[in-house]
Amino acid sequence: MPAAFLAGGSIDRVNTTSVVSLLSAIEDTGRDTRRGGYSRPVYSSAELQLREWFTAEAARRGLAVETDRNGILWAWWDLSDSSASAGPAGVPDRRGALVTGSHLDSVPGGGAFDGPLGVASALAAVDLLRARERDGSLVRNRALAVAVFPEEEGSRFGVACLGSRLLAGTIDPRKALALRDADGNTFADVSRTHGLDPEAMGRDDAVLRTIGDFVELHVEQGQGLNTEEFTDAAGRGPALAVGGSILGHGRWRFSFTGQGNHAGTTLMTDRADPMVAAAQLIVAVRQTASAQPGARGTVGRLEPVPGGTNVIASRVELWLDVRHPDDAVTASLVEKIHGQAQKIAAFEGCTVHMTEESSSGTVHFDPALQRSLEQSVARTVPGAPVLATGAGHDAGVLAARVPTGMLFVRNPSGISHSPEEYVENDDADAGVTALADVLEDLL
Ligand code: GLV
Ligand code: MN
Ligand code: MN
Ligand code: MN
Repeated sequence: MPAAFLAGGSIDRVNTTSVVSLLSAIEDTGRDTRRGGYSRPVYSSAELQLREWFTAEAARRGLAVETDRNGILWAWWDLSDSSASAGPAGVPDRRGALVTGSHLDSVPGGGAFDGPLGVASALAAVDLLRARERDGSLVRNRALAVAVFPEEEGSRFGVACLGSRLLAGTIDPRKALALRDADGNTFADVSRTHGLDPEAMGRDDAVLRTIGDFVELHVEQGQGLNTEEFTDAAGRGPALAVGGSILGHGRWRFSFTGQGNHAGTTLMTDRADPMVAAAQLIVAVRQTASAQPGARGTVGRLEPVPGGTNVIASRVELWLDVRHPDDAVTASLVEKIHGQAQKIAAFEGCTVHMTEESSSGTVHFDPALQRSLEQSVARTVPGAPVLATGAGHDAGVLAARVPTGMLFVRNPSGISHSPEEYVENDDADAGVTALADVLEDLL
């Protein structure tokens, strides 16, 4: 195996345990040879292949797979074998079930683990739990489901956690359905193509009632477990952490409009160039966010229109991502950046318009569920720390409706949304064992 293959965020096959072999089966799906890593936007052929992989693996485990009206996949391990647990007419009683899972879509050129690790670990944890049920050490009191959420990254339609937001009713379905991908397709049309009824999408109380608790396992996406506070003499951090909170975050789109023109015939003094305005705003974002302790400000996407080497752009679309633990600070940072954009645009002879695409307040996970996770995880990793994360997750969205919690698996690179994201086999195994313990204790 070439070294670049391992460095490319793939899976070390030395140790073929269940979660590792599950992930190995999808390591070629959605590889992005141009950017490196994986590009698996929602409802792309890569993401659809991953859904098929998940459906087959869930079916192999005897789970009943269903797609709900928001396109979320559910693999149910019902209590139906026991007649006492079945509701009227033998319909399985799924109210207040325990749910785990994550997502299979990715950012452009993302790593192998962001999303799929949580899904594969959930399937592997079901294997452990089935074995425990067989040997009599596990008695289940409620159903368990593994869920796969669509468009967690918002890399195709712009709003992250779109599936869980629709389910929870934290986005207006009319807004969601009107979202467009880079080719101009609406979310409504794409959903219809994939067998969903756009008219039926939105808050689903029947599905929400089936979620008693939601636990998401995820690769750690920063240096959280690699900091000196947690590492041993060899510099190695603990394999796992329990989630404490998610930074408030949001996305804002700035449209700079100037005068499209010829690169050769337009004097430097005669230009109203929106690329120049956008470039200055990028620098201003860096300065403004750096001056605010705890803040993150990022411009990771820019689209000049029409986008020619010898063309002064007529318009530039720029996307801003801002995060901070205090929602009021996030709002004031965005307001400040908006003011800077207006000044910069005016100076260049351009105009600018800002639109909020999404925003989510800081989330603190359910305290009782967090304590339960800490106790269960301690059996695998004594003293596993509680970590705040700067990344968004479906668990953060669902927290508005149901108790949610998270487990993070150590990422030695501390890098994510990049091919360098990494997880070691032993840590992935520890994650599955701890997830199984967490689920067992909650079942
Ligand atoms: C998604 O992973 C995000 O945090 O933006
Ligand atoms: Mn993720
Ligand atoms: Mn992500
Ligand atoms: Mn995420």
